[in-house]
Amino acid sequence: MKEKSSKAIIDRMSQIRLLPLVTISDLEQVLPLCSALCSGEVPIIEIAFRSSLAEKAIAMASQETEITVGAGTVLSVEQAKEAVNAGADFIVSPCLIPQLVEYCIDKDIPVFPGVSTPTETHQALKLGLSILKFFPAEDFGGVKTLRSFNGPFPDVRFIPSGGIDKNNLKSYLELPYIFSCSGSWLIDNNAMNQGNYNAIVQTCRESLSLVKQTKENHS
Ligand code: 3PG
Repeated sequence: MKEKSSKAIIDRMSQIRLLPLVTISDLEQVLPLCSALCSGEVPIIEIAFRSSLAEKAIAMASQETEITVGAGTVLSVEQAKEAVNAGADFIVSPCLIPQLVEYCIDKDIPVFPGVSTPTETHQALKLGLSILKFFPAEDFGGVKTLRSFNGPFPDVRFIPSGGIDKNNLKSYLELPYIFSCSGSWLIDNNAMNQGNYNAIVQTCRESLSLVKQTKENHS
């Protein structure tokens, strides 16, 4: 049984350093997808509230697999409650919603709201957070902006998302204050729709080898 405390969840996420994001359009794909991610040694998934199947998909992943499962694109306290009741281990939002953050802190659920400016980063710090999603990463200056944020906010660790792929992943992982890199490149929708889960295993392994390389450089 996987441990559900927020510390255990954050520890697992910081070990993996990758956060695959998916929008589920067919519940039949949930279990084979989780199994592919586990075979690729990336046993974590963020299921976006961008389809009406999100809640059911989170419940399946949480009850029937050992994967760490988060809810993504959470835009209200109501959605966060649905996700947590379905078994979500953590909550991700594209933006900073104070009530949502307060709800998650109260329930001891790790929450990663999206920020893209110093002012939002400061607001999130004041709410008691120190691990934040940086979204949309590439559109808002990517690695260059994160380097600038690290000056005034040295204690914040970021989860960049938006436009990350196998070509720029390494440049993000090389920054020591990157908690995890998130995005949809780890779960190729076409491959999934064709039932080609091996392609997903392969992408996970390739991305993980970059995580391992950059970890060695940090230690
Ligand atoms: C997110 O919500 O984090 C982004 O939409 C992911 O962007 P990507 O599809 O470019 O990875």
